[in-house]
Amino acid sequence: MAIIYDEKAQTFTIHTRLTTYQMHVGRFGVLEHLYYGRRIDDCNLDYLIRQSDVGFSPNFYESAPDRTYSLDFVPQEYPGCGVGDFRVPSIELVQADGSFAADFRYESHNICQKLYQIPGLPAIYDENEGGETLKICLKDAASDLRLELYYGVLEEKDMIARAACLVNISNQTVSIQKIHSACLDFAFGDWEMLHFYGRHCMERMAERVKLAHGVTAIESRRGTSSHQHNPGAILCAPDATETSGECCGLLLLYSGEFAIEAECDQMDQVRVTLGLGGNDFTWQLEPGERFYTPQALLSFSDRGLEHLSHNYHDTIRHNICRGAYKLARRPILINNWEATYFDFDEEKILAIAKQAAELGIEMMVLDDGWFGARDGDEAGLGDWSVNYAKLPHGLSGLSEKIHALGMKFGLWFEPEMVNEDSDLYRAHPDWAFQIPGRKPARGRFQLVLDMGRKQVREYIFEQICKVLDQTKIDYIKWDFNRSICDVYARDLPKERQGEARHRFVLGVYELLEQLTARYPEILFEGCSGGGGRFDAGMLHYTPQIWCSDDTDAIERLAIQHGTSFFYPISAVGAHISASPNHQTGRKTPLNTRGIVAMAGTFGYELDLGKLSDCEKMLVREQTHRFGQFADLTQNGKYFRLTGTQGDFMAWEFAAKDGESALVNVVFTHVRANELGKCLRLRGLNPDAHYTLEWILDPQMEQRKAELDTKYENRILNGEALMNAGIVFPMFGGVYPAFQVWIKKVR
Ligand code: DGJ
Repeated sequence: MAIIYDEKAQTFTIHTRLTTYQMHVGRFGVLEHLYYGRRIDDCNLDYLIRQSDVGFSPNFYESAPDRTYSLDFVPQEYPGCGVGDFRVPSIELVQADGSFAADFRYESHNICQKLYQIPGLPAIYDENEGGETLKICLKDAASDLRLELYYGVLEEKDMIARAACLVNISNQTVSIQKIHSACLDFAFGDWEMLHFYGRHCMERMAERVKLAHGVTAIESRRGTSSHQHNPGAILCAPDATETSGECCGLLLLYSGEFAIEAECDQMDQVRVTLGLGGNDFTWQLEPGERFYTPQALLSFSDRGLEHLSHNYHDTIRHNICRGAYKLARRPILINNWEATYFDFDEEKILAIAKQAAELGIEMMVLDDGWFGARDGDEAGLGDWSVNYAKLPHGLSGLSEKIHALGMKFGLWFEPEMVNEDSDLYRAHPDWAFQIPGRKPARGRFQLVLDMGRKQVREYIFEQICKVLDQTKIDYIKWDFNRSICDVYARDLPKERQGEARHRFVLGVYELLEQLTARYPEILFEGCSGGGGRFDAGMLHYTPQIWCSDDTDAIERLAIQHGTSFFYPISAVGAHISASPNHQTGRKTPLNTRGIVAMAGTFGYELDLGKLSDCEKMLVREQTHRFGQFADLTQNGKYFRLTGTQGDFMAWEFAAKDGESALVNVVFTHVRANELGKCLRLRGLNPDAHYTLEWILDPQMEQRKAELDTKYENRILNGEALMNAGIVFPMFGGVYPAFQVWIKKVR
């Protein structure tokens, strides 16, 4: 049993394999947070609550004359507002009488032997893993509002999934101004925050900051989870590294606006609260209604960041992603976007596909431009019927020819958008978000459809089904190419306009749920101008997401590095594109581009016809190599062997049973007069013995002989490889890269 209630002490304890989480019904019924950290068996930690007469920290009315208990410093599970806690709240309400107050106290609880689900929102699920749920009901001290706190537990994965639900049991409307999914109130500890910021073509840059006094906030106000901030953060002890030290992850399963607020208070305590964000959110909760928050996934590691990452990778792969491709190796694809952009016809696409099939590529993906009057990005979005000028035999004709080559066929959609120059917009201009009396801001010449409206969703659903029912489609790339503004929901009254953004996300989830249920064999890949909606909410519907529109292998190193803290390799869309790269103009060897793309779902996005015979041979070898290592890269453990700052970046995939590993090294800086480099490996069996096979670019062949001689007949044990490491020379040239296959011999 992972969840234990001690009735006498009124303490709730959640034990996972390596962690303990403890709460306590404290004085006046306040649900106090006691502990989240390394596993502690059999202990009531309520002595950790400190009480003192703190100046300017108010006390409950009923506690007089005692002045030592105040919400202003007591660590709480779900802090309210307006009644004496001046720190960041998890919930803010305007009560029916207009007062700003929320003061929830313990009422009851219930433990059940399965994981809870959330109506209309993604949530973790389990397949006979013994998931459990603790539900704690709190009630507002003065109004008829109940708050249910949910804790879903995956014991073996050290994962706790929190969510909250506000229930209006009164006969009056209440207005929710803020309602977060989870709060962690650390009374002790000196925490830094690792978060992931960026922009289009530069997503998820890892940044670690010391939490200063006051509030540090990470948020998206862009309608989607965004390129600019990812909805996850990691609190790290200052000495935490990849392999040691304490860290605690918080990840939201949500694809819309969010906020993560970390406050270091007057007593040096740290509170982190996360959930729905954006300053415009409000929700009118009518009598009898319930409001569910998205889920937040918490995990703790006392063995460094890589262990924490493994917890999230396993949970996302097994308990969040769904569908036929959840754990399956994804087909190696070729996408025509960077090969042709909008300038294609059937002949060009077939030429790419034919060449690709010969080189071992398994799926042809037709990107933007196959529909409506879509010859550029000014027109056509919303009109999901084929453009016969480009594809005279229709999509079905093309799909048949591609399947005849032995390949799968994939198609691009951007269902949530509309161009003003489209039949859809001409027929239904009111379906797009725009504020009456104002001209809407355009993003890439497009407007956003209000997916909160049933009518809009139904229309889009029908249009997509029409395409999918008439043509054999194996894969869909689901794109989203602007941030959302000018939000105004025409079907909502003025006091409900603050609900529009969240209703939009709920609508998108509903549409995706219907489509993935109706077409379970189709592989969906999420996308938002690259990784602008790369979050665990989307991964519930699309098991992979295009990681970034920056396909430059060297730029991708830091992007994929930042992405890896929460998200598994099987979720990361990564392709080999042309050199010079279209975003940066940088030239990189094909071998290097291949190694970087293998740290993802793997595919190509260039005109193969422009490659030399030598390069084509390398493509054939790469597709073979990806297949050979797919089990390791997709199912193995991922290790960040370096950070982003040195002369090279390295990462490793190690089989969970320690049988083999694949080490990947890319030089970002070559230097003269160097002795060589040393790299310590991880994830091997210390007692097992291994041989090394160097996989080098043909241009590095000379050094291969040197390396083979150095390591010839040498069998190294895991202990040596992990503690002393491997040594390799400073390869010269332009961004050289190589792999080392570590194979167990006995
Ligand atoms: C943005 C995506 O990230 C690209 O890969 C491509 O699909 C374009 N949109 C097409 O408009």
